[in-house]
Amino acid sequence: MLNIRIEKTVTPKELPSADNPLLFGTIFTDHMFIMNYENGKGWFDPRIVPYQPLSLEPSAMVFHYGQEMFEGLKAYKAEDGRTLLFRPNKNIERANRSNRRLCIPEIPEEDFLQALKAIVKIDEAWIPTQEGTSLYIRPFVIATDSFLGVRPANNYLFIIILSPVGAYYPEGLDPIKIWIEDEYVRAVKGGIGEAKTGGNYVASMKAQVKAREEGYSQVLWLDGIHRKYIEEVGAMNIFFKIDGTIVTPELNGSILPGVTRDSVIELCKEWGLPVKEIKISIDDIYEAHSKGLLEEVFGTGTAAVISPVGQLRWKDHIMKVQDGGIGPISQKLYDTITGIQMGRIKNNHNWIVEV
Ligand code: COI
Repeated sequence: MLNIRIEKTVTPKELPSADNPLLFGTIFTDHMFIMNYENGKGWFDPRIVPYQPLSLEPSAMVFHYGQEMFEGLKAYKAEDGRTLLFRPNKNIERANRSNRRLCIPEIPEEDFLQALKAIVKIDEAWIPTQEGTSLYIRPFVIATDSFLGVRPANNYLFIIILSPVGAYYPEGLDPIKIWIEDEYVRAVKGGIGEAKTGGNYVASMKAQVKAREEGYSQVLWLDGIHRKYIEEVGAMNIFFKIDGTIVTPELNGSILPGVTRDSVIELCKEWGLPVKEIKISIDDIYEAHSKGLLEEVFGTGTAAVISPVGQLRWKDHIMKVQDGGIGPISQKLYDTITGIQMGRIKNNHNWIVEV
């Protein structure tokens, strides 16, 4: 059990007004959680302090070798006033899996959950209540040793910041257009693709810029060896509905094991839909589309929730899905997942944790 020291801000910021569109990741709350780590001493000095800049040496290792882990989850305000977290233990487990891969010390699960609840509680008033909004929670760990040699650091900071958000994509729930990338790759097996770390996202930027120039909002990655098997999208996992079956790439070591991905699989199974986690190639998708069997495509993620895909572009082929509209399964998944998250729909999985 952490003994969290609390220093409240004396200059609280104005809460965003209800008609603020809450562009993703642009507004931050009054406080942040922070805790230090030192080899031999472990995690120490857990505290909640006013949201503020960090003071780090320019030689801090995170700036040079990118030793960092981050997570993303959300808090919701239910109609009855309760503050809810969606499957926080999944994020905590994944954070420690990322930590192990990145040689960052693990954070005891119960301390992590306590820290999440404590910081959300303090800034509870910042949880927006308009439809489609939530309080995005961004926990992260950075290596802080002042050192330029390459090795795991001896000192770290674990920080949690909060941001009231609306939809991740400007399109909202309108279908997005996706560019299938066959030049650059995001990750390879044995690399860090399944860890949640900045390196995977910087690796994605070049292709994302290229896709945007062509009018596409996200990139769909193919595997790094054959440039053939589907992996994931920039900020989401990807699902296809082909001839009645829900298909998603299997977790193969280079794909992020998404919490929303897992929830979608569970819900589809519960609804009696056939679900397959398999190796799926871009040729399979192209063929399914040519035969008129590609019924729906959608991305899943904490930030994006369910994001319908209306168009895929692979080389010179443009594949339109659902006539560019949202499919019934995508809509049902969105309604069900947001309903569970907001406490409107009960589910038997114990996915909701009250703060
Ligand atoms: C999330 O969905 O929480 C993510 O971390 C994706 C992101 C890079 C915005």
